[in-house]
Amino acid sequence: MKISTSLRALASGATLGLAGLLWSLPAAADGELTVYCSVQEEWCRPMVQAFERETGIKVNMTRKSSGETLAQVKAESANPRGDVWWGGTGDPHLQAAEEGLTVEYKSPMLAELQPWAASQAEQSGYKTVGIYAGALGYSFNTEMLGSTGAAEPACWADLLKEEFRDEIQVANPNSSGTAYTMVATLVQLMGEDKAFEFMKGMHKNVNQYTKSGAAPARAAATGETLIGITFQHDAVTQAVQGAPVKVVSPCEGTGYEIGSMSIIKGGPNPDNAKKWYDWALTPAAQELGAAANSFQVPSNKNAKAPKEAPDLSTIKLIDYDFAKYGSKDERTRLLSKWDAEVGAAPK
Ligand code: F6P
Repeated sequence: MKISTSLRALASGATLGLAGLLWSLPAAADGELTVYCSVQEEWCRPMVQAFERETGIKVNMTRKSSGETLAQVKAESANPRGDVWWGGTGDPHLQAAEEGLTVEYKSPMLAELQPWAASQAEQSGYKTVGIYAGALGYSFNTEMLGSTGAAEPACWADLLKEEFRDEIQVANPNSSGTAYTMVATLVQLMGEDKAFEFMKGMHKNVNQYTKSGAAPARAAATGETLIGITFQHDAVTQAVQGAPVKVVSPCEGTGYEIGSMSIIKGGPNPDNAKKWYDWALTPAAQELGAAANSFQVPSNKNAKAPKEAPDLSTIKLIDYDFAKYGSKDERTRLLSKWDAEVGAAPK
């Protein structure tokens, strides 16, 4: 298993020039912008407020999970209402690019991005770009585990154990990019047949498939579930707020996301969409994540990675095949198979 070499190259360098110059200007522009936001609401809101403050542009924001947003952009494609899709896992952004739902844009900020973020842009014909990265994993409630007497889970394989019956929560991969990342990760780690056997086995232990990917981390934090499968940074969000949770990077290795951003084709405010796009790639905008307890690794080399962010260079990451698992055919096929063989299976 190969650790993605581009992800090893974490933030370095100090060429803040362009960003500083662009965004120190006073607010002058106006008009409107509709942003579809697929990170946590707690991060969407300060992004919108900061952009409105700096540009004078009024932002209408809707928060939805990654798969749901792709479905909305597709449903609205004859009469697009959104301008920018900011955040959410990269696979559905790549699918949107392939389906011609988003437009090519080469931001002047591309030169400041980490190689993994720039390669997401290249791969899509510049119809999407990486804005952050984060590794998949799970967390468990240490107090609840203590009362069951079970050993601490450390691997994907542990999630099949009888003692975790009805104690695991994960999102539905149709609505959630996180859960789709899990499906694609397990397929790449184990091979498709074993991955589906694993997910069918784990189904007995799942108490709920949530709509949003980060919800299981909150549920583990409050004791609604013992284990929540999410991106590791979403579990860190709970831990830093004092929840009794431990974050696990599965021993077999794990997948990761390149959280992405795209401009919606035919949106009503294309110029303002580019303004948001350039601004969202600046260090200052990306550093708003940590202030909102969102601990992904930012894509701008000059943005400070939050000290709480799981260190991707120390996690056993698979060489996630974004081209394959972000393609329309593969994503659609895997989701239908998950619906038929896992989601619909009896418990
Ligand atoms: O905002 C937290 C986060 O985990 C992002 O890192 C990720 O891109 C997004 O949520 C995925 O959300 P969902 O699984 O609901 O599509």
